[in-house]
Amino acid sequence: MSLALRDVRITVPDGERTRTLLDGVDLDIAAGEVVVVTGPSGSGKSTLLAAAGLLRHVDGGEVIVAGTPPAALKERARTKLRRERIAIVYQSANLIASLTAVEQLELVGHIQGERRSSARARAEALLAELGLADRRNQLPGQLSGGERQRVGIARALMARPAVLLADEPTASLDGDLSAQVSALLAEQARERGIATLVVSHDDEPLAHADRHLHLADGTLEQVGAATG
Ligand SMILES: Nc1ncnc2c1ncn2[C@@H]1O[C@H](COP(=O)(O)OP(=O)(O)OP(=O)(O)O)[C@@H](O)[C@H]1O
Ligand SMILES: [Mg+2]
Repeated sequence: MSLALRDVRITVPDGERTRTLLDGVDLDIAAGEVVVVTGPSGSGKSTLLAAAGLLRHVDGGEVIVAGTPPAALKERARTKLRRERIAIVYQSANLIASLTAVEQLELVGHIQGERRSSARARAEALLAELGLADRRNQLPGQLSGGERQRVGIARALMARPAVLLADEPTASLDGDLSAQVSALLAEQARERGIATLVVSHDDEPLAHADRHLHLADGTLEQVGAATG
């Protein structure tokens, strides 16, 4: 299971003109591989991530998720692919305020049509694996920032995605927590064979990357193998 971008092109309106944000971007991420893309603010990192997540239209090229080029799919199948194979983690976990940690995860199982008892068991196991067993009945407001972010990652994993996308997953965390969360993300991605793309303007996720690419002027350049 993997993620591939082929010659992806995205332009956005910029006053009277258009600006090319992605200028024929090629990217291959294998199952279990963790790729980090850095770049200056406004360079198009979030746009790249949204395109990879099939959340955004591309003006050229294609995005291939788990071997399936979405262009070949009807709208419904495309939605299913997005919902079942892709998980996204944002800077803030975007948890639902009225649901406990375990309920956040169970909801994902519910959406995917999983039986309640099975979803509950998987949710409990995932939270335990991410060191959150004793937090499972807390509401988001009763969790620390780092715990919320870990619940967000657990929720993403609950969907059993082929592709995991993370937009600035450590930007709201400081020091140790930031390192912890990015290590956890990479470790889980490898263990579960999930193709993982992290975009970040801070350096923390780089320590755990298999590859580091830099986005500038619409193109992706390899920065060199990370020590990982
Ligand atoms: N639909 C759109 N219409 C017009 N401009 C857009 C659109 N989408 C993105 N942009 C512009 O494209 C540029 C890139 O945005 P993007 O959010 O991808 O940058 P980024 O690299 O994630 O930045 P940051 O590090 O600040 O999060 C920005 O200048 C943004 O305003
Ligand atoms: Mg961004």
